Amino acid sequence: MTKKLWGGRFSKDPTSDVEDFLQSIEVDREMVLEDIWGSEAHAIMLARQGIITGEDLRKILYWLNIVREKYLKNEFTLRKEDEDVHLSVEKYLIEGAGPEYGGKLHTARSRNDQVLVDAKLHIRWKILEIKKKIIALQKVFLKIASENTETVIPGYTHTQEAMPVTLGFWATAYVSAFNRDLRRLDNAYDNVDSNPLGSCALAGTSFNIDRRMTAKFLGFSKVHEHTLDAISSRDFVAETLCSLAILMSTLSKLAEEMIYWSTFEFGIVELDDSYTAGSSIMPQKKNPCVAELTRGRTGRVYGSLMQLLTMMKGIPMGYNRDLQEDKPPLWSSLDVVEKTLTVTAGMIETMKVDKKRLEELAGSNFTTATELANHLVREHGLSFRQCHHIVGDLVGTLHREGKTFMDFNEVDKVLSKHKIKVTYAKMRSIFDPKQNIHTYRSQGSPSPKEVKRMIAEFTAEVKKNEKIIQQQETKIKDAEKLTQRIVKDVLSGKDVCAIKI
Ligand code: ARG
Repeated sequence: MTKKLWGGRFSKDPTSDVEDFLQSIEVDREMVLEDIWGSEAHAIMLARQGIITGEDLRKILYWLNIVREKYLKNEFTLRKEDEDVHLSVEKYLIEGAGPEYGGKLHTARSRNDQVLVDAKLHIRWKILEIKKKIIALQKVFLKIASENTETVIPGYTHTQEAMPVTLGFWATAYVSAFNRDLRRLDNAYDNVDSNPLGSCALAGTSFNIDRRMTAKFLGFSKVHEHTLDAISSRDFVAETLCSLAILMSTLSKLAEEMIYWSTFEFGIVELDDSYTAGSSIMPQKKNPCVAELTRGRTGRVYGSLMQLLTMMKGIPMGYNRDLQEDKPPLWSSLDVVEKTLTVTAGMIETMKVDKKRLEELAGSNFTTATELANHLVREHGLSFRQCHHIVGDLVGTLHREGKTFMDFNEVDKVLSKHKIKVTYAKMRSIFDPKQNIHTYRSQGSPSPKEVKRMIAEFTAEVKKNEKIIQQQETKIKDAEKLTQRIVKDVLSGKDVCAIKI
């Protein structure tokens, strides 16, 4: 027999190398408070169901409280030889309360359901934190949008000037994309938000436990019923990581735009000094390092998702120790995403946009050619393909001659060749990006009217999402309060079965 909590059938401890190989202490550090909360909920349920006595419960809750206090004062040491957070907390409890009391906490429980409780409680908070940060970033974009529904900029395809759009239109594109990131996180949250406790090792238990009761104490919306499926499942981690990976792809796209928009050659934006870094040799340099690291760290999050999916793919139903490898990639991605969202919001909020230069660029390099073709379709009874060809010929000629749409005489000459007459007044309005943007009529287009309408809708959605987060937070906090109220009542001598829940 060894000193390990599971050591009864062993004649030897693992070697120190093996101990080191098995442990998850570093990763589990994040879940100490969650482990205590889960244990309190479990113990209270056991006592209310008559599985342990009121005296057992008092001792257990008393010692769990001491662990919490010590942890909050940074005095609770997690040792590698204790393997993980679950055994560390339980061992402390057993040492304090004695095995005849402390040893009862693990009745009708396994580390297999316990680790899921801890991880789910932790991820639930993290998803809400990340959602709040996405919304903060959306608000930055909505502010830019509402101030710039008429600020013309070139819209790009293939990173080549395509058609005039507005800065407000560009900004709302990100708000629109982040709405889907929020929805994906909501879907992940829904699968995180189910109670695995009571699944035990894989097959539930012959004790008369109440899984709905622990769900209530832990603020879970539902019970993850099927016990074998529950303890085998890590798809909620995959879903969370997948949502984070796709979110990073949006943030990386934005970072990439900031990187080349802030080049001397583009000269569209200037990033604030506090969101850039210098060079150790070239005194003049101001590098977009925040944006670059956003782009670079996206790889970490993609890698995390692949790491997890690969770990999961070969595992049969049931708990397998491989599953312990779910947390390192998830923790690292949560960290990257949280930090990236914070600095991105600051970077975008503080950047300076050169609106004059954007306006110049918006109408240059023939960006209004499509609108000229549209005009010809409407006024000259030709097919779009015919008009595309005529305008293509016009652009090709002007380009070869080093001229632009502003050379109305030349435009007129080429169009006359095709038996087409466009008045100079009409040319002025078609080729002016500021007027051009008002001609867009379709749903979701850059016309100031349409962008204003979308801003109003996105703003309403932001409010709705904020309210949902608030409700989710309240639900969690209320469950925490309920558990703590019961703990307090029990410790002050009340009969746990007489406490109203
Ligand atoms: N540290 C383990 C993990 O993260 C806890 C569960 C251990 N379960 C077991 N049967 N050994 O997965």
